[in-house]
Amino acid sequence: MIYVRDNFFSLKTKNTEYQLYADKYGVLQHIWYGKRVDTNMSYLLNYPDVGFAGNIYEAGNDRTYSLNTLPLEYPCKGTGDYRISAVSVSHSDGSTALDLRFKEYKITKGKYSITGLPAVYANESEADTLEITLQDTSSDVRVILRYGVLYELDIITRSAIIINGGCGKIRINNAASLCLDIPDEKLEWLHFHGRHSMERITERSPLIHGIQESSSTRGTSSHQQNPSVILCSPDCTEENGSCIGAFFVYSGSFRTQIELDQLNQTRLIIGINPELFSWTLNPGETFETPEAVMTYSGNGFSKLSHSFHKVIREHICRGNYKLSERPVLLNNWEATYFDFDADKILRIAKQASEIGVDMLVLDDGWFGKRDNDCSGLGDWFVNEEKLKGSLHNLAEKINKLGMRFGLWFEPEMISEDSRLYREHSDWAIKIPGRDPMRGRYQLVLDMSRKDVQDYLYDSISAILRSADISYLKWDMNRSISDWYSSLLTAEKQGELPHRYVLGLYALLERLTSDFPDVLFEGCSGGGGRFDAGMLYYCPQIWCSDDTDAFERTVIQYGTSFIYPISAVGSHVSIVPNHQTGRITPIESRAVTAMAGSFGYELDPSQLTDNEKSAVSEQINRFKKYRKLIHGGKYYRLSDPMNGYTSVWEFISEDGSEILVQGMVFRTEPNMNRKSIKLRGLDPDFVFESDGESYKGSALLEGGILLPQTWGDYAPVEIYLRKKG
Ligand code: DGJ
Repeated sequence: MIYVRDNFFSLKTKNTEYQLYADKYGVLQHIWYGKRVDTNMSYLLNYPDVGFAGNIYEAGNDRTYSLNTLPLEYPCKGTGDYRISAVSVSHSDGSTALDLRFKEYKITKGKYSITGLPAVYANESEADTLEITLQDTSSDVRVILRYGVLYELDIITRSAIIINGGCGKIRINNAASLCLDIPDEKLEWLHFHGRHSMERITERSPLIHGIQESSSTRGTSSHQQNPSVILCSPDCTEENGSCIGAFFVYSGSFRTQIELDQLNQTRLIIGINPELFSWTLNPGETFETPEAVMTYSGNGFSKLSHSFHKVIREHICRGNYKLSERPVLLNNWEATYFDFDADKILRIAKQASEIGVDMLVLDDGWFGKRDNDCSGLGDWFVNEEKLKGSLHNLAEKINKLGMRFGLWFEPEMISEDSRLYREHSDWAIKIPGRDPMRGRYQLVLDMSRKDVQDYLYDSISAILRSADISYLKWDMNRSISDWYSSLLTAEKQGELPHRYVLGLYALLERLTSDFPDVLFEGCSGGGGRFDAGMLYYCPQIWCSDDTDAFERTVIQYGTSFIYPISAVGSHVSIVPNHQTGRITPIESRAVTAMAGSFGYELDPSQLTDNEKSAVSEQINRFKKYRKLIHGGKYYRLSDPMNGYTSVWEFISEDGSEILVQGMVFRTEPNMNRKSIKLRGLDPDFVFESDGESYKGSALLEGGILLPQTWGDYAPVEIYLRKKG
């Protein structure tokens, strides 16, 4: 719901409220984002006279009105606000000042969309849109700030359009998607950092004066930092305290900056990373920023995660698989790496079908000349020698075993040792006269080029049409550098990183809409591009190349703050684990992988008979719980980085079913069974588990006893059902 009165705007959701106000000078001030208060909070604005905080010209001798101290909705560079800014342009005369003032607004039913970019979608009964136009009168540069308000979900989205309304060319140096000013309050921030095979480690720190940032300049959202952030009160826990979260619906280089200023005010800005970015706008042209999505919770992190899980699962993910049950798949990567032929794959497939797997996924190495990672990328034609015939035949044999068939691609890449490179070396991103950086021996295709997109569309769709293929794993295995496109003028080279992402999205849009029955799974060396932009096209993403169940509890814990469980591709692999050498029980590997879109990454012939029957039983259990796991609410019951357990809970929407899963890392001699408090359940319900009855209030206050463990990394699984 959006209310407007005398240039005061209130965006209300079920539990939250966002207020802004165009003041007497037309400056758009941010007033409030927090709990729904149903009253104008502008009395909180104060106007201190602060030394070295300049004053706008119209304020005359009033030293108290300064852009450097006020909470601003979309602060500009160059006109006296010295904090981090949301927008910066260079005018045709080389000057860079911008002074945006309120011009007009528009409210519409439904949710705006963004040309060529993924965004939250919602119908007219679910969302409203507010557009506020700001204008720099001297240059006629205009900015339309767009807000999507999803009432039931407590979600507010932000995006901006920059318009060159003047008669000279301008260059955009920075165009953020979200700016949020928060008044004097001591805050902490959580972000999710990591590295390859160890993504989204949660880090929480108090804000320090000055700027703190998490960002990527890798051309992808990256393993190293995730485009998401949470600001919280120091007392914020899973259930109590206030927090504001934001994630970016974008898969390229991003920047999240937080500044704690001289007056202890906090400013959060999220957008395309301005480093390695510029965009030229001729008169009349526009630029649309990607979207950032926000929520506020007054009840700790759980509520924040629930709002984000719902908006991503129901209003960002699309396609036939969005809410439907995901197949249990077996991927051959860790089973064979590049060392396979059709016989080996069929032997794995036969055993996979015997243990109840739904789908066999053939990973890297089935195409071109690809027996290791030094060659073949770009040659998307089947290696019939290796597959001993056509892909159609192989898929048919797998189908006959009662399984569906899936296939790996890495569309954005090109190996120098490939037919494609020999024919189109100019399609690779590299700067004339310089040797390019290689990553995993490969170069990156210039996805901004229509001919590259068309080549990929034609070759991928030909493969998809040639056989019964139900799943496509979209991998991407290096960070991008040496940005240069032979089709762009010198002035426009700074546009390439964003044009790359637009090209990637355009290709994904064509393929996902032309092959609606294919389940797309995103991947970038595991979770190097785990973001809401990719989730618009691929409802699940391979979470990490680390399949070690213990490390996965940390990775999946961090991931769960923002992303829904159904988005998390997660598989059981063999021990000793290939990434860490750690040995964990097969049951612990299973419960960890079940907190995701479940599958296996192993050669079943390496399992003992006991393990094989355990696997069959796990698959049946996952299928039984799949609806509850993907459709229920998820609670983090313990922090794996702080203590000796990682335990989580799924509870069905109606509260009648609960599944507690996880792991106890260490067993000590003479150890008490520990209890863990459950959450989100009705205190008056009575639940039953293993013949015991428990009142909801008891489970909330006293908890449930974890099993007596034996050995390290012992599994936890407790299923409770409402009695009667
Ligand atoms: C990286 C992925 O994360 C792996 O799962 C696997 O597909 C390899 N690439 C194949 O090259």
